[in-house]
Amino acid sequence: MKIGILGAGSVGRALAGLIRAACHEPLISERTPSGDTVSFEDAATAGEIVIIAVPYNASEVLLPSLANALAGKIVVDATNPLNDDWTPKVLGAETSAAEEIAKLLPGSQVVKAFNTVFADIMAPEKLTRLGVPVTGFVASDHDGARRQVADLAKAMGLAPVETGPLATARYLEAMAHLNIAIAVGQSGGTDAAFLYHQAAG
Ligand SMILES: NC(=O)c1ccc[n+]([C@@H]2O[C@H](COP(=O)([O-])OP(=O)(O)OC[C@H]3O[C@@H](n4cnc5c(N)ncnc54)[C@H](OP(=O)(O)O)[C@@H]3O)[C@@H](O)[C@H]2O)c1
Repeated sequence: MKIGILGAGSVGRALAGLIRAACHEPLISERTPSGDTVSFEDAATAGEIVIIAVPYNASEVLLPSLANALAGKIVVDATNPLNDDWTPKVLGAETSAAEEIAKLLPGSQVVKAFNTVFADIMAPEKLTRLGVPVTGFVASDHDGARRQVADLAKAMGLAPVETGPLATARYLEAMAHLNIAIAVGQSGGTDAAFLYHQAAG
């Protein structure tokens, strides 16, 4: 499956590696394509699933121009809403980055995923810790899309946990803010991850 990736930074390239390892074909895109990257429009058009891996503030500007190309597709929001100085842009009380992105893409099935995983550990050798895969939380209002992205996350080496509707992205984005607060504010570093354990019910 062709998977478009909007953004060629740390997350875009690391996710591309995991997608290749899962035997899918990533299409990395950026505003000035060069070498192994294509344009945002080409990635949005050719990708069967498209992942947003640009800063949230940039996605607000970029996505309206791609809404037609992304209509009818699963769009995975991997962003975290941050200010320019990396402080959290807290949206969680009444909305989330994912819900705002869904408003910009009314024809797409928006799924929140990958935002609680540091780019630095999006590599096969880093994704298994204490003998278990890192958790990949997945939220969406579209059950089939959520399930499909959970399956993709599993193929990429994560342990998917479906968290329910897209509004649960409010909690996932807060978890990412916590992740950053520990890694940066407390000097814990980014070689760290969430492992969610649920006893079989
Ligand atoms: N880093 C992490 O550990 C991590 C983990 C989970 C989620 N996230 C989220 O994933 C997203 C990407 O993070 P990252 O760490 O990969 O960032 P990054 O390394 O800074 O890469 C950002 C990418 O977005 C592009 N971009 C930036 N501003 C843009 C704009 N105004 N218009 C179009 N393209 C723009 C950059 O292109 P140029 O080179 O042209 O500027 C680059 O390709 C963010 O939303 C972040 O919050 C990050």
